[in-house]
Amino acid sequence: MSLSRRSFFRTAGAAGVGLLSTDFMAARGREGFAGTELAAIDAALQGTPAKPGPIKISSNENAYGPGAAAVNAVRSVLGPVSGRYPTNVDDLTTAIAKRFEVDRANVLVGTGSGEVINAAVAAFTSPNRPLVEALPTWESPGRQAKAMKAPVKDVPVDADLKLDLAGMIAAAKGAGLVFFCNPNNPTGTVRSATEVAKFVEDVLASSPATTILLDEAYSDFVVDPSYGTGVPLAMKYPRVIVTRTFSKVHGMAGLRVGYAIGHPDTLKMIAPHRTGSMNVLSAAAAAASIQDTAHIAKQRDQNRATLDATVRTFTAGGYRVSDSQGNFILVDVKRPAKDFREACGRMGVMIGRDFPPLINWARISIGTSEEMRVANDVFKKVLLGSGTTASR
Ligand SMILES: Cc1ncc(COP(=O)(O)O)c(C=O)c1O
Repeated sequence: MSLSRRSFFRTAGAAGVGLLSTDFMAARGREGFAGTELAAIDAALQGTPAKPGPIKISSNENAYGPGAAAVNAVRSVLGPVSGRYPTNVDDLTTAIAKRFEVDRANVLVGTGSGEVINAAVAAFTSPNRPLVEALPTWESPGRQAKAMKAPVKDVPVDADLKLDLAGMIAAAKGAGLVFFCNPNNPTGTVRSATEVAKFVEDVLASSPATTILLDEAYSDFVVDPSYGTGVPLAMKYPRVIVTRTFSKVHGMAGLRVGYAIGHPDTLKMIAPHRTGSMNVLSAAAAAASIQDTAHIAKQRDQNRATLDATVRTFTAGGYRVSDSQGNFILVDVKRPAKDFREACGRMGVMIGRDFPPLINWARISIGTSEEMRVANDVFKKVLLGSGTTASR
């Protein structure tokens, strides 16, 4: 983006229109703008490959997109190779197995981790075998369980917005699957490696037929030193699986690649419930990206610096922010998050959906540093502009 979205929105603000999309321009017509405005708009449009629009920090994506290694890998298969059915999915499986020092049989790839997670819900829950999850957490497993008429046991997060371990252990008795999201979306909080190991042991001791899914979609962003992957647990216990995705730190949400790590027999129970079909471009990109460890570390550091700056915007104003280890934060905006979201939206910044019952908490994904400079200005304006009301 040569002329930044930032200056684009500054222009938009100066024009008093809030948001200037190409649609908006079409509606208003070029003659409706002053010469300087037009020049800025034209420059912004030329410098922006995609249609300029709102800053989208609503879906916990990585706004920087894939790294150079992934992009080059896609280019290398874009010719005649992509005219054939994929033969490189095995290479991706091998690359993932190598990264975690497990066998290929311990890896199950899917078109996004969401596909693998839903397949696990389908495999292990039923009308007599509930799903246990935190409240709030990422909603897809709960939706899938309900679609299958499996009961869903919601265990509210604790006062620190962390997963309630004792509550989830109690709820897990007789359950088909425990969805354990670590870091948890939307709170971003983590449980330590020691806590997770103890949790797994306790659940398996009191409910040996229950499967535990450790969702590590955001694990590569974590900086808390007490955190550790659950992969060793998945290697030790057939009833434990770990899922991960290329949609977050790898910046490949649009390419749809995720995977599970676990015992071969457990993965064999999940595999038939997958519905997607991996394509040659996605497999190539993911195999390259997982080996690009320097790029991943850079993404993590970049995210953390921008996240910290965003947290400061809110804490400086007296707003409580969750201890997020992901690429998003959850903020008590002391008013319905819906009102805050709509006000930000009118100023060109799209933030996350509601996560009941935390209706006063807004989930904000971390965009590029430039996007977040604009977004933080908007947040301040919205918070100051509409005043504060007591938190409920
Ligand atoms: C916690 C968590 N798990 C899994 C996913 C699914 O990601 P994908 O299907 O893109 O791999 C998401 C997406 O936002 C998520 O937040």
